[in-house]
Amino acid sequence: MSTAPTPHGVHEPAVLLRGLTKSYRDLTVLRGVDLDVARGSIVALLGSNGAGKTTVIKILSTLLRADGGTARVNGFDVATQGAEVRGSISLTGQFAAVDEILTGRENLVLMARLRHVTDPGVVADDLLRRFSLAEAGTRRVATYSGGMRRRLDLAMSLVGDPPVIFLDEPTTGLDPQARIEVWRAVSELARGGTTVLLTTQHLDEAEQLADRIAILHEGRITVNGTLAELRRLLPPAEVEYVEKQPTLEDVFLAVVGADASGHAHRDDPGTRTSDDLTTPGERP
Ligand SMILES: Nc1ncnc2c1ncn2[C@@H]1O[C@H](COP(=O)(O)OP(=O)(O)OP(=O)(O)O)[C@@H](O)[C@H]1O
Ligand SMILES: [Mg+2]
Repeated sequence: MSTAPTPHGVHEPAVLLRGLTKSYRDLTVLRGVDLDVARGSIVALLGSNGAGKTTVIKILSTLLRADGGTARVNGFDVATQGAEVRGSISLTGQFAAVDEILTGRENLVLMARLRHVTDPGVVADDLLRRFSLAEAGTRRVATYSGGMRRRLDLAMSLVGDPPVIFLDEPTTGLDPQARIEVWRAVSELARGGTTVLLTTQHLDEAEQLADRIAILHEGRITVNGTLAELRRLLPPAEVEYVEKQPTLEDVFLAVVGADASGHAHRDDPGTRTSDDLTTPGERP
């Protein structure tokens, strides 16, 4: 775990939101957001486009002021203790913020110098190893794949061991292989004791990574729980809302025959047939 100071909040969650509100002129985006992120856990904030996910992350990173409510990070209030909050966090946005001209290692050393870390080279080599970039470390970032860039971006966010990390859509635009690489890297962070709050529009990402999943909808957290708790909500309308469209997996399961909980009826082929796939109008 990090040794960053937590004068008031040793026992409080790493991230604590109560009644958070925010409007952009006439547009009310957050209408009272309540959320806890326990220390060392991964929480996924799910929501459709424009739900306000980035707005929440920006407020927590002190890039934006809330209109009302409370937001605390690592025991510090974002409104009155901005410097302490910034000293506790790292924010990784959607697009990798790495320098293409430099090598991966040079990027890390540069970040370590900026953050006044002792032994920048040692820190850089350690992070390269942890993110499976040791061999690529001496190559220019311009030659990296999308997944390697994102891993380097994550590694850079870890320089100085911030106890809380915000990841805004960490895998948007990545191919499936690269996403898996990033998921592995994020899981690794949490295993090391880092608290992770990530936003995503991908249910599978939340399923893969998160200890808890919170759904932001119409300005509030409408659902919050573990994956198992959320599954117990099936099949109400809220869950249909987040699924947006059938995935390839849904189609596959419908074709091979599966119940709502995803268990295939291999021993009971008569329960679902291809008839289930016909539209109501086609039924006799
Ligand atoms: N600076 C701004 N000025 C005015 N409106 C804004 C501003 N930033 C965001 N908005 C609006 O606030 C709403 C929430 O935006 P936000 O970026 O927080 O959503 P999001 O959940 O991150 O969406 P996405 O999934 O597309 O990234 C949107 O309707 C957006 O257009
Ligand atoms: Mg966003």
